[in-house]
Amino acid sequence: MRVLVFGMGAIGSVFAARLSKRHEVVGICRGEHYEEIKRNGLKLRGGTEGTFSIRVYRSLKELDEKTFDLVLIATKSYDLKKALKAIKDVTFSYLMTVQNGLGLIDILEEVIGRSRVIYGITYNAAVLVRPGVVDHVFLGETVIKSLVDDPFDEYLVKELKSVGLPARKSDNILKDIWLKGTVNCVINPLTAILREKNGIIREKWDLLSDVVSGVVTECLEAAKIDGVDLGSPQELLDLIKDVSLRTSENRSSMLQDILKGRRTEIEFLNCYVASRLESMGKRAPYNRALCALIRSMEGPS
Ligand code: PAF
Repeated sequence: MRVLVFGMGAIGSVFAARLSKRHEVVGICRGEHYEEIKRNGLKLRGGTEGTFSIRVYRSLKELDEKTFDLVLIATKSYDLKKALKAIKDVTFSYLMTVQNGLGLIDILEEVIGRSRVIYGITYNAAVLVRPGVVDHVFLGETVIKSLVDDPFDEYLVKELKSVGLPARKSDNILKDIWLKGTVNCVINPLTAILREKNGIIREKWDLLSDVVSGVVTECLEAAKIDGVDLGSPQELLDLIKDVSLRTSENRSSMLQDILKGRRTEIEFLNCYVASRLESMGKRAPYNRALCALIRSMEGPS
């Protein structure tokens, strides 16, 4: 396959590096990360090891060959709309997103429609330690599903597995989106506020239990608006504990953003959950509070 990775941050870089083992990968990235990859290749450590030579460009305008089998969008969720508008300039057979966030299906539908779209949720954890160097802290599973029935999702599962990325086809993508969203609604803002790695959630479980349970209960309620039954609160609490344990050495993406003085994905996580419930006349004090706290800490862009 000829693959375009749009957004070569930590997660985009992991997918680009792995896929380049069997496919022709082209990446779009900016600044020093771009310069470093161009000069010395993309270095991965941890869950993925090695130096990968990926052809990188600063914008789609610089591409001489604009036809791809797969476009993989790995930008921040708040840049999804911009990315989808930009890729209208390239010809592609399929598009897959691997982003954090809730409500992204609505954006996909509005800008490019459902056909040819593969929705991806990934439990990989990675950090861009310096330009050109990414720590793949946790080799997690990627769950994918074509938004219209299309066997390409099965092909992609096979391809991801064959480059060493654990993957499976989802049998309920909306539920999987809400499960991952709930994990992010707990781990991301709390680690960003505490300025601690993901393991802190499990370490301070008893102390944090009221906040964690409050966020989870509201996420369960909000998911019901989408007709999604997330199961029992205990199942969700176990999932959060498990992700916090398996990614204990990772700085969540929100903590990384806060430490760099950047904008976070809070709008597509806790703020989204609070707004969904409030639009139905319900209250969401836990998610609303975390939304306000992170908004007052984050940078503008
Ligand atoms: O956003 C993140 O950092 C990740 O989604 C996860 C799985 C919570 C690991 O840090």
